Amino acid sequence: MNKIETHDVNFWYGDFHALKGISMNIEEKSVVAFIGPSGCGKSTFLRLLNRMNDLIPNIRLEGQILIDGQDIYAKNVQVDELRKNVGMVFQRPNPFPKSIFENVAYGLRVNGVKDESFIRQRVEETLKGAALWDEVKDKLKVSAYALSGGQQQRLCIARAMAVSPSVLLMDEPASALDPISTAKVEELIHELKKDYTIVIVTHNMQQAARVSDRTAFFYMGEMVEIGDTKTIFTNPVKQETQNYITGRFG
Ligand SMILES: Nc1ncnc2c1ncn2[C@@H]1O[C@H](COP(=O)(O)OP(=O)(O)OP(=O)(O)O)[C@@H](O)[C@H]1O
Ligand SMILES: [Mg+2]
Repeated sequence: MNKIETHDVNFWYGDFHALKGISMNIEEKSVVAFIGPSGCGKSTFLRLLNRMNDLIPNIRLEGQILIDGQDIYAKNVQVDELRKNVGMVFQRPNPFPKSIFENVAYGLRVNGVKDESFIRQRVEETLKGAALWDEVKDKLKVSAYALSGGQQQRLCIARAMAVSPSVLLMDEPASALDPISTAKVEELIHELKKDYTIVIVTHNMQQAARVSDRTAFFYMGEMVEIGDTKTIFTNPVKQETQNYITGRFG
């Protein structure tokens, strides 16, 4: 089943045509990687999937984006409900200036959950799910800033997971991390795919090859090609993709 479908998506920042005719299907509980040179529109497209571009002035969107069959830009869509379902993790870990516990509890509290024992249970469950529990269970009241960068990033993933989304968008989630933390985040993505549909932007082609089922190659605002990750990296159809994966540009 397609979790996400986009139909002929075009997007402009002012006069600049940033995305050109992008149609793509993303299967439920799969991992899709977006690759391509800097400035080709990967983050722009990712952010359209949970309406993170909405507040930028002078933007224009054409085409359709469906999640669970529902047009997410339809008039009756509540953006906070959408973002609960479609969580996002950024390039730099950005925990709130709060304790580890409160970072994960945050989304529940803003959604009006009052039952403390439920919150405690959910925080524990989520930190376990984010493969962080064992490292933090004895210091839940400590500031999130006391964690390493890699731990902070897994905390941010936990924070996104706490409100039970079904899609996780990740924009270069490991690019600011050391190799060991990166490996942990990659392992985590692998685990999460059992329960979530994941879209990840990465500049690291080995990472795309390790974590994703399918890979989409973007170039100058177009999606040149999407296919099974193995095929994209060994036998792509398009010459531009071949040039990129063999390091001839970008
Ligand atoms: N808020 C904005 N206003 C105007 N133009 C923007 C804005 N954000 C991005 N752009 C432009 O849109 C194009 C695509 O940017 P985007 O950030 O989506 O690229 P990217 O593929 O994620 O690049 P990178 O790999 O460097 O992160 C670029 O030319 C960029 O300059
Ligand atoms: Mg980007």
